[in-house]
Amino acid sequence: MSETKTLLILPGDGIGPEVMSEVLRVIEWLARHRGVTFEVGQGLVGGASIDAQGTPLAEETMARAMAADAVLLGAVGGPKWEALPFEQKPERGLLRLRKEMALFANLRPAPVFDALVDASPLKPEIVRGLDIVIVRELTGGVYFGEPRGISDLPGGGRRGVNTQVYTTEEIVRIARVAFQLAAKRHRRLCSVEKSNVMESGVLWRQEVQALHDAEFADIELSHMYADNCAMQLIRDPRQFDVIVTDNLFGDMLSDEAAMLTGSLGMLPSASLGEADADGRRRALYEPVHGSAPDIAGRGVANPLASLLSFAMCLRWSFDLAAEADLIEAAVKGVLDGGMRTADIMQPGKARVSTRVMGESILRELDKLTA
Ligand code: IPM
Ligand code: MG
Repeated sequence: MSETKTLLILPGDGIGPEVMSEVLRVIEWLARHRGVTFEVGQGLVGGASIDAQGTPLAEETMARAMAADAVLLGAVGGPKWEALPFEQKPERGLLRLRKEMALFANLRPAPVFDALVDASPLKPEIVRGLDIVIVRELTGGVYFGEPRGISDLPGGGRRGVNTQVYTTEEIVRIARVAFQLAAKRHRRLCSVEKSNVMESGVLWRQEVQALHDAEFADIELSHMYADNCAMQLIRDPRQFDVIVTDNLFGDMLSDEAAMLTGSLGMLPSASLGEADADGRRRALYEPVHGSAPDIAGRGVANPLASLLSFAMCLRWSFDLAAEADLIEAAVKGVLDGGMRTADIMQPGKARVSTRVMGESILRELDKLTA
């Protein structure tokens, strides 16, 4: 295959650069040992970009992201930039990437690794074997709906407005991704909204049901209110296979699902656009965790969510399932071997730094391919 595969790496803020450098080492390993090479570019996003060029995302970086086969992002945000006006915050850089690349489908798997069953705050018998995926709509809803803003009221005081809005087209395309994913898994889809209080939720439920009846009648579909789903995720998370939900509920439920697995530091995500005629889609991969400013720069962050995001990238953007499997097996291997970063530390295990965790992954990759 002579076609060059282009990757744009945007490490971002906080622990982003630290975890991303471990991904870079795995990228080098793939070149050396598997002959899989990428043309890797790097750029700035978020606070790092604000500090260097006065904007959370430069036009030039946006253009490179549009042209890349895939974007790998670390994390954005931090206390340093919190007081900035809304449009200039680090998070706007990420939101703009999602919106302009039209990455409407956000896949957030939350598998519980056997070795980490005890790291979950829930009882082992509730989470053992858990394997769910949240499919979150990512370019619509209250995150982008108009009108929005803060205005002064004539009599004093102010008014803050955001708009939750979904169209048939937006609902159907995200539901289709979720049904297709469920078809490759345990064939169960739970659609989550608040149709008891929101018209956008009523429409969501109707459109998902209609798509089911028309094209995916062989997938078991259920509907759930978002508050109940938050509760069911704690009560009995294994009842779920794939969950599809809107931007805001997906944001919240995926943090909750992440915690079931023991650590936000373990969870990857893929954000995908519509496939073109050749089956190619724009894509961005990032860990679900944030920039963790409290531990940034100390070399203790968990790089596994970023590495697993890179594995998703190999699988979804480059059809490199064998290499993706290898990385996932290496992660499992180091965990089984007792390596733990601080966030997943357990009694009797070896507490290691970001760097040592990365090195252990490389050693495990060597072993798996020896
Ligand atoms: C996420 C994050 C983002 C979001 C922030 C950083 C804008 O929480 O990816 O879940 O709210 O979508
Ligand atoms: Mg979030």
